[in-house]
Formats: sequence, structure tokens, C-alpha cells
Amino acid sequence: MPSVNENFLKLEKNYLFINIAKKVNAFTSAHPEADVIRMGIGDVTLPIAKCVVYAMKKGADEMGVKETFKGYEDSGAGYDFLKEAVSGYYKSFGVDVPADDIRINDGAKSDCGNIVDIFGDDNVVLITDPAYPVYVDTNLMSGRKVIYCDSNEENGFAAMPDENVKCDLIYLCSPNNPTGSVYTKEQLKVWIEYAKKNNAIIIYDSAYEAFITDENVPRSIFAVEGAKECAIEMCSLSKTAGFTGMRCGYTVIPKELTVTASDGTEVSISQLWGRREGSKFNGVSYPVQCAAAAVFTPEGLKQTRENIEYYQNNARTIANTLDELGIKYTGGKNSPYIWLKCPNGMGSWEFFDLLLEKAGVVGTPGAGFGKNGEGWFRLTAFGDKDRTAEAMERLKKLLSE
Ligand code: MLT
Repeated sequence: MPSVNENFLKLEKNYLFINIAKKVNAFTSAHPEADVIRMGIGDVTLPIAKCVVYAMKKGADEMGVKETFKGYEDSGAGYDFLKEAVSGYYKSFGVDVPADDIRINDGAKSDCGNIVDIFGDDNVVLITDPAYPVYVDTNLMSGRKVIYCDSNEENGFAAMPDENVKCDLIYLCSPNNPTGSVYTKEQLKVWIEYAKKNNAIIIYDSAYEAFITDENVPRSIFAVEGAKECAIEMCSLSKTAGFTGMRCGYTVIPKELTVTASDGTEVSISQLWGRREGSKFNGVSYPVQCAAAAVFTPEGLKQTRENIEYYQNNARTIANTLDELGIKYTGGKNSPYIWLKCPNGMGSWEFFDLLLEKAGVVGTPGAGFGKNGEGWFRLTAFGDKDRTAEAMERLKKLLSE
């Protein structure tokens, strides 16, 4: 009889958003008349830009013609035309990332989860709390020791390293999911120095970089000196260009990044990751890569920017309402997430139930992201403009009762 990986038995029974979906489904079954506004899972709602759809259709047409048909892409790392486009995108905000340091993937979540394969199970992993559940779950699945660095009200939900704590891998996310907080260049410098002192590697999730508006908030960790010797960056087109249903993202592993193996040899992290991918991943479909490349054309950037601005307006609507109600929050600016303190000292799930049952609005309980999330709550700005405004009216009414 096979044994199972018993580390899985230590996880929460369901992934956070599955639990929420179950609760919402139970509520809508019991109240079929309820008009529920969903601001829980961070999923986009606007259609993909026209020029991107056109590029995908063109790619699909090419697959139906003998002369332009494509089977496997040789390297599995993505077509050069897309890696060049991503490299050019980095250049547009002043960051030098060569195309051959980039691998195309099916979204940041997969790589954030799969990267653990190339690191030893004896690594100590430092994760800011609260955090995107994938970082914690995937390390627990491999039986690794996970330690936490507190993001809380005192530090504006932007945890900084403790010099006395030792670790090997560090997960950072800026703009942060779930708290919407961001790291400035100075703060990232501190993390990089800390990583170097510990010989640690930073796994940096920049999936929400397109929402950054502040000048002193880097769009990439590679905007900060020294990052190439200690960081991996993962980004995605899910939130930048509405690709949650298309699946495409990219991971940057600089060639400068190496670790010393137990026999003293210098191992390239990029080479190791390529080796992992060679055995376990056959790349992203050609039409989707064509669509992704179109995102980075001038027209694609213009059209996707309009969608981002739409969501940024929603974020402002939410933030203005919370200001009016005197509720504390982080995010909303530089981020599509608004992280608010549950009113009247309520717990996260208590507020979730109240908001769903009395106002028909779905959010995400902060406690689902870690212990420091208890008493906090996440709303997303990815919804419809009028529905977002309606949800805020309902919140005001609920809290005035
Ligand atoms: C979230 O709501 O946190 C999102 O689902 C993150 C993701 O894209 O996986």
C-alpha cells in the first residue's frame, strides 16, 4: 500500500478560497433571492484588451496552417519574442533584466509553489505574516520549517527583518497580497542586505506591480542594487492584463544567482530551475504566448492600462468610504487590495458572516492569511464600478445600524 505525504495532513483541509466559495454557495442556496456582491477572491472582471485577443486568435490560426504550425517550443522556457517583450517591459521602468534570465510560465502561482522543488527540505523558510497562502502551504507540503516575520498595524503591514533570526529562503510580496502594503526602495535594500548576510535567497512576488503609482516604490526587486545576487522574481499577467483565465506569467532568475552545494561546487539556481522545468513542464501554449506578447506592445500597454485605472478607481471608492467611516486600512493605493480593520473589534470570520448575511457583500477574512490577519479583512477592487459603489453603500448602511 502506498503511503501518502503526511505533510498534507497538517494543512488546512481546504484552500482558503475554496472555503469561502463553500460558505457563499451555502448562503446563496439558502437565500436564492440575495443579490450578492463578490469582493473576495482577487479575480479580474474586465475583458482582455482587444489587441491581445486579436494576437491570440492570430496565433490560433497559425496553428491550423502547416507552414506556421508549432509543436513543442524547443527550450520550454518560452518563445524569444515573448521573453524579449518582457525584457523590454522591465526596461520601460528602468530595470535591466536580460531575456535569457526570463522563463515564461502559466502564472505566478505555479512557480511560487513549484520553486520549492529545487531547494533542500532542510531550509528554514521565512514568510511575512499575513501572506498569500501558497508560500506557506507549499513549504509545509515539503515538510520544511517555516518561521514568520510579523506584518502588523504597528509596522503598516510591511514586516522588516530581525537581524537575530536566521533563515535560508525568504518570501516577499510587494504590493502585498493580502495587505496592499508596499516596500520602498530603502526597505527592500534592508531585506537584500539581510538576505546576503544570511546567504539566503529572496523569492519575490511582484504580481501586482502594475498597480504601483508611487515613484519610490520599485516595480521590481531588481530595481534595487544587489538583488541579482540574492533574489528570484515572479510576476504574472493575471492582474496586469486580465489573464486569470488565460494563464501566463514569468519568472526571472538572474545568472548571477548561485548557491554552494555540499560538495563545494557552485550551483546555478537558474540552471537547476531549468532542469526541474525540463522534466516537469512543457511550456505555455503558443496562442497564449502570442497574446502575452501583445500586452507589451504600445497598444497593448495602453489598453491594459485603461483596465488597471478602472480598478484603481474602484480602490479609491473603497478607500474613500473607509475614510468616511473612520475605519483603518492599508492598500488601495499602489494595490488593488484594501486591508481593513474589522469594525467594533470583530474577528475576521465574524465580520465575514455579518457582511455576507446582512449586506450581501463577500470579502476575505484576514485570518485566512495568517495569525496577524485576525481582526482584519480584505476587499478587492477588481469588481464592477457600480457594484463596488453599491457594496460601499451597503457597508455604510450596515455600520450605521
Ligand atoms: C487572491 O485572491 O489572493 C488571488 O486569488 C491570488 C491569486 O491570483 O491566486
